[in-house]
Amino acid sequence: MEDNLSETLAFLRARLNAKPEIGMITGTGLGALTERITGEVRIPFEEIPHFPRSTVEGHKGNLAFGNIAGRPIIAMEGRVHLYEGYSPQEVTFPVRVMAGLGVRYLLMSSAAGGLNPQFDRGDLMIVTDHINLKGSNPLTGPNLDRFGPRFPDMSQAYPKDLIRIAKEEAVQSGMMIRQGVYVGVLGPSLETPAETRFLRMIGADAVGMSTVSQTIVAVHCGLRVLAIAVITNVNLPDCMERTSVEDVIEASRKASGVLSDLWERIIARLPGQ
Ligand code: HPA
Repeated sequence: MEDNLSETLAFLRARLNAKPEIGMITGTGLGALTERITGEVRIPFEEIPHFPRSTVEGHKGNLAFGNIAGRPIIAMEGRVHLYEGYSPQEVTFPVRVMAGLGVRYLLMSSAAGGLNPQFDRGDLMIVTDHINLKGSNPLTGPNLDRFGPRFPDMSQAYPKDLIRIAKEEAVQSGMMIRQGVYVGVLGPSLETPAETRFLRMIGADAVGMSTVSQTIVAVHCGLRVLAIAVITNVNLPDCMERTSVEDVIEASRKASGVLSDLWERIIARLPGQ
């Protein structure tokens, strides 16, 4: 892994003219966010040594460098998931790459199913905490001591000052914003009504198939994480509705303009060096 990482970093450093400060990963139907990057260099995942390739509809598969709100950013347009068959280490490799390039923040957006009955389709939810129900942890195996400790503390995985900035910016732009706990599941099958009831009972407000593994690795590397989920469907165990990937993509595409505005405002306010 360390050798692969060195090769990937050497490849990318040769292509970049500035050190990125912010890393961003966008999810299903949310690629539009990164179209706002100015002065960009875009590199398809398949050209980058050791990079995993996204196989899912709604995910583009480019690494983009440039500026948003005047801040140097590196963005993954589309992510890879465990359900595509990648290992937890492969799925989180891009986070290690971002950390290796000198990024301090990891910003993530994803699609999620709402479990909190007060949520509506199209709502945005700031992730305040997570539950890892993916059945794996990306830090198993020998610890990469160069990055972080064997047993990283997860008591403040989503720092409160970043959550506060996100809330303030949403309120100031007159946007309705939710906050809550994200539970990460493996997928790709969606949840049964009994699973949905269970996830709600254990304290989750939204369920999705991403974010959690990347957050764990980001915390291990010392990155500061802020995640916002788009509630693309609401799952109520006593009256479950059918959900299709088309519905998920449609809802996240609809939200992506508003979410891009919010990200831009947040990025402008992130504390500097
Ligand atoms: N469950 C899991 N992942 C999801 C959902 C869902 O209902 N909606 C969007 N991603």
